[in-house]
Amino acid sequence: MCGIVGFVGRKEAAPILLEGLRRLEYRGYDSAGVAVYGSDGLQVVKTKGRIQALAEQVETRGGLNGSIGLGHTRWATHGAPSDINSHPHVSENGRIAVVHNGIIENYAEIREFLESTGVHFVSETDTEVVAQLLEYYYQGNILDAVTKALHRIRGAYALGILCADCPDRLIAARKDSPLILGFGEGFHVLASDVTAVIEHTRDVCYLDDGEIAELTADHCWVYDAYLRPVEKEHRHVDWEISAAEKGGYEHFMLKEIMEQPKAVRDTITPRIRDGKVVLDELEFSPEYLKNLDKIYIIACGSSYHVGMAAKYVLERLLRKPVEVALASEFRYCDPIVTEKTLALVISQSGETIDTLAALREAKRLGARVLSIVNVVGSSIARESDGVLYTWAGPEIAVATTKAYSTQLAVVDLIGLAFARAMGTIGEEEYAKLLAALEDLPRQLEEVLSHREQIQYLASIYFNHPSVFFIGRNLDYAVGLEGSLKLKEISYLHSEAYAAGELKHGTISLIESGTLVVALAGCRPVFEKTMSNVVEVKSRGADVLGLTIAPLEEAVGKVVDHTLTVPETHPLLLPSLEVVPMQLFAYYVALMHGCDIDKPRNLAKSVTVE
Ligand code: M6R
Repeated sequence: MCGIVGFVGRKEAAPILLEGLRRLEYRGYDSAGVAVYGSDGLQVVKTKGRIQALAEQVETRGGLNGSIGLGHTRWATHGAPSDINSHPHVSENGRIAVVHNGIIENYAEIREFLESTGVHFVSETDTEVVAQLLEYYYQGNILDAVTKALHRIRGAYALGILCADCPDRLIAARKDSPLILGFGEGFHVLASDVTAVIEHTRDVCYLDDGEIAELTADHCWVYDAYLRPVEKEHRHVDWEISAAEKGGYEHFMLKEIMEQPKAVRDTITPRIRDGKVVLDELEFSPEYLKNLDKIYIIACGSSYHVGMAAKYVLERLLRKPVEVALASEFRYCDPIVTEKTLALVISQSGETIDTLAALREAKRLGARVLSIVNVVGSSIARESDGVLYTWAGPEIAVATTKAYSTQLAVVDLIGLAFARAMGTIGEEEYAKLLAALEDLPRQLEEVLSHREQIQYLASIYFNHPSVFFIGRNLDYAVGLEGSLKLKEISYLHSEAYAAGELKHGTISLIESGTLVVALAGCRPVFEKTMSNVVEVKSRGADVLGLTIAPLEEAVGKVVDHTLTVPETHPLLLPSLEVVPMQLFAYYVALMHGCDIDKPRNLAKSVTVE
């Protein structure tokens, strides 16, 4: 989704902005632009297409002079991707430039009002309204104009503002869309994502909703919506810049798939002490847990798929009802939530707007919120009653892999810790599950060592235009993720079905040459699943089976090719099964020549509803 970077200091701003934008490319975008103020006044260059095209245009102009500026990558919402709709947007008098992430909901009404006063708009965007409204309110004090404009607009925003009348400062403001400030010697930066500025500083703070910041080369002031000063806590970003680089891999996605053993190890090891899971971060008493009426899991996309697996795991371990809701549906379904409900919110980015809004709704209804988040200090983390971070490191590829795996590992830790506190697990079962969890990183390494076999199978099946993933129970949960991985990066049509459900309609689509990926690793339902596999096979489907090593022979008798993963505790099966699914999707997409790390139409962090 859109990205923002801003710089004010004593160096040339344009190269810093362009490099920052390059680091934001992974978020997904369709156009980009920069505004720099210098001896030539306010200079704006923006274009549809890639950062490279923007950099070439800047170069053609002989560069942009000035040590203060803003950059933006746009993911179109209001108005098609075009040069004119790209940010920065500049007010009619050419003196106020604005970059914006989010959506101004009442933009049409404000635009109509401004047009009635004689303002001419040039773009179709909601953002231009902000630039024009600032000019309307501006009477010599930009902060005053900003507060007036912000009181008038509704919606979500992270804003970067540069006014030619005070060219020594940037103004930033946030509501429901992330924005960080970075501190350095003789400079300040702002960005929607630390990746854009980590090269320059690791000393950052996160703006909260309603806050406004004023940045010069040497000072940073943060205010609330009424311009009362606010003290901000600084945070240190401790991951290495190399974590956000490809490190010799062709794609971030492959690198991140290969990083999963480490990511899972980093996530679980610090939380296992003396043979026990210790979640120091949480303050949920055994009484509170025993009295829960329900656990409501809320998430989107792949995080939702983790939720689907978590339902099986947590219901089995905690003997409490677990409901899984798509965040975008939760808010509008009049959910049954009480003070005894625990909302378990799952999000890699911690900024997905649907998930954040659902979190707020769950809280409003009385639930306590526990979140599983990868990005430290993100909105979801900050607004939760308890947070368990997944120590996956930065995930750059749009298609999530290591974040998914670490989320699953955290679900397992929660299951173990809560079950022990609630008395729903025996000592022996606890020890077995914990030992299996500790062994996962090693088993993940083993699965990854077979990636050439998966590449080979992808080369056999990559041309199937339509792929069905079937499985029961936890196999079904993994099928959902396998199918999403395949369609999002290879653009092949794919669906996931609970294997037993197929015969209630969808089986009519199975014909000679349809590819079915059959997940059959779940022992308790193995025979039932295999009956469903036979059903599709006898209707002409090509079947690629995925199972655990001890069941390979049985599966191999029915399917065309078999992939295996080592046996683990049955509740941990998804952690291993998902890896061949990720690799299969990766290699199929590679064979189709797709833009794997930046699939069309997608964004890494979805910050619009
Ligand atoms: O950051 P989040 O986990 O909240 O993101 C939710 C989804 O947008 C995300 O999981 C998406 O489905 C993945 N990028 C798919 O690979």
